[in-house]
Amino acid sequence: MIKTVAWEKDRVILIDQTRLPSETTYVTCEDYETVAGAIKTMIVRGAPAIGVAAAMGIALGALHSTASTYDGFKEQLETICHTFAQTRPTAVNLFWAIDRMNGLVIAHANKSVEELKSLLKHEAIRIGEEDIEINRRMGAMGNELIPEGARILTHCNAGALATAGYGTALGVIRAAHEAGKRIEVFACETRPFLQGARLTAWELKESGIPVTVITDGMAGYAMHQQKVSLVITGADCICSNGDVANKIGTYSLAVLAREHRIPFYVAAPLSTINPTCGRGEGVSIEERDSTEVTHMAGQRVTPEGVDVWNPAFDITPAKYVSAIITEKGVVTKPYKQNLEKLRPGSR
Ligand code: MRU
Repeated sequence: MIKTVAWEKDRVILIDQTRLPSETTYVTCEDYETVAGAIKTMIVRGAPAIGVAAAMGIALGALHSTASTYDGFKEQLETICHTFAQTRPTAVNLFWAIDRMNGLVIAHANKSVEELKSLLKHEAIRIGEEDIEINRRMGAMGNELIPEGARILTHCNAGALATAGYGTALGVIRAAHEAGKRIEVFACETRPFLQGARLTAWELKESGIPVTVITDGMAGYAMHQQKVSLVITGADCICSNGDVANKIGTYSLAVLAREHRIPFYVAAPLSTINPTCGRGEGVSIEERDSTEVTHMAGQRVTPEGVDVWNPAFDITPAKYVSAIITEKGVVTKPYKQNLEKLRPGSR
């Protein structure tokens, strides 16, 4: 299995997703600043993988803390967490992981600094292990929605590379393939960063799952030509009303799917749900550097000086989402009530 994020000998190892598929190289992070930089530059990307990398980065920063008192340690941890919180604003799993790591330290105020360092390290490793288990559970639930012979369209990369392993949307696809179903996948290239063309195509090919790459503008015609029987994507943030923030272009696919009466599914762990964000308008949408749009493979493709807008995500209103696949079950409308039932502590 692809190792996206790993804790090895008190260092964080990341597969370099900016170089895939032409080179399979790894970045070794010796300090937390390198992990935070890797998240910002998308060496590691995908909401759950960002969460796991941040948790490990926080543990790494904590390990190198020079503090000798609880208060000093907590102060340094706050600086570390603040650095991670500045990396990618839309991925809810990032803030979820920061809160979980911080919460551990608050809950163990009676422990020594050395004990806290050890607790944080093991918590970060556990977050990575749990993510893989959650994806497998989601895969099993989502598989129920995938018919034999399905032609599945997906966007961006919501696979092993976007998680600690197995994947969310690609986890469902993987589960259907492992169940022996004859399926095929259309991967939208996902301009401008090409997560679909580079990463999803690579992952599926490695796993022996038939994949056809199309440019983003071809999706509508593919649906019109009845080449697509369902759409499945991941999510960076799910609001309490079921609105979904995901890679730019997802909204267009959902609207197209509705027009062509094709189910549009979202697969995401509960850690992607932000219960404090009531609706899509409240999501902080990351805008990335204009060079991602003006250049391809280092070559300028637009005229010098042209204006560029580069939002990395968009919002798909809940009304277009046929179901949300989580590790605790498949959720359908009304999302507000049904997502609420899945929250820890609710009956
Ligand atoms: O900008 P990215 O590559 O981090 O965006 C990734 C996505 O939009 C994914 O679909 C989402 O994070 C879910 S990944 C399991």
